[in-house]
Amino acid sequence: MPSSLPVMARAPTFSYPDQDGRPLTNEDLLDHVWVADFIYTRCTTACPILSARMMMVQRKVADSSVRFVSFSVDPDHDSLPVLKRYAARWTSDESRWRLLHTNKKTLRGLAAGLLAVAEPTGDPRDPFVHSNTFLLVDQAGFIRGEYRSDDPSEVDRLSDDIRLLLGATEAKAERSAASPDSTATGERLFVELGCQGCHSQAKIARPLGGVFGSVVTLEDGRTVEANEAYLRESILAPGEKVVRGYPGTMPSYAGQLSDAQLTLLVDYLESLRGAPAKAERVRAVDPVCKMEISAGPDTARAEYEGRTYYFCGAPCRRRFARDPGKYARP
Ligand code: HEC
Repeated sequence: MPSSLPVMARAPTFSYPDQDGRPLTNEDLLDHVWVADFIYTRCTTACPILSARMMMVQRKVADSSVRFVSFSVDPDHDSLPVLKRYAARWTSDESRWRLLHTNKKTLRGLAAGLLAVAEPTGDPRDPFVHSNTFLLVDQAGFIRGEYRSDDPSEVDRLSDDIRLLLGATEAKAERSAASPDSTATGERLFVELGCQGCHSQAKIARPLGGVFGSVVTLEDGRTVEANEAYLRESILAPGEKVVRGYPGTMPSYAGQLSDAQLTLLVDYLESLRGAPAKAERVRAVDPVCKMEISAGPDTARAEYEGRTYYFCGAPCRRRFARDPGKYARP
């Protein structure tokens, strides 16, 4: 056995089709290091965090032999096309990620074999209990580690343990693949860090086009202008200012990003423009100075309580941002 990791159990046998309809069995995974988790695609709380963290581990571990396996706990709903769409939302490279269509009869036993839990609850709002951990399985099919998805430092521990199983030569290759980030763009980071998976599903988190420069209403009723500082804080300490109408499920990326990467992300978010798209113009009245304006993509604007307001310029928008309730239409 390579490495000092404990040998926890032998991974169970299984055979399920993946998002492309290809069968995958535990035997197919022999000689591979693989990471397992349990999700269902309708889940808006724990699973998006699992999937986002899985994206981050995939990003950190460049070795193409490592496999990532997500077992759906909701086989009734998660058909192959549904799993395919889910995968595509999270990543543009599904080559290492297999999402498996399980079946109800074998699911509980499978989960137990992976030291996890996966069971229906009967509650339509929260239909399944499932572990929110990652399991690490070695090349011989033994479980070697268990990692929590709600703790960002576990992403690093899991990535390190994968490298340990792969052996020292891989660790070297890993470093060179991880260090130069010269090809990274904000848009790519947005996908690879799992941001897109959540922010492309309004049920989980709102799309971020047009957020920069808008006025955001927070959970506690406060309003803030979405400037650069706000965007940075949203990424590093999302719990500080939670957007009204959304659960605080956004995971913190503190310690996971270099300053250069954070800047790329924030620049990307700033470059996203909200509606109206293209060169369309709309007639509007500036709610502060009451001037009539023809609003286009460059017009100063703010979102407040679900409505877009346009301004003759930045000074009126600033006045609005300080006290939107005073100017907003009832
Ligand atoms: C697991 C889902 C999830 C992931 C992954 C995620 N977010 Fe979020 N994000 C949320 C939710 C939910 C909110 C709204 C609640 C809040 O403010 O914390 C949010 C809020 C935000 C906000 C504030 C937006 C606003 O509407 O005012 C920004 C900016 C943001 N996220 C950027 C990012 C970036 C950049 C990434 C990737 C590095 C990312 N998010 C990853 C779920 C996620």
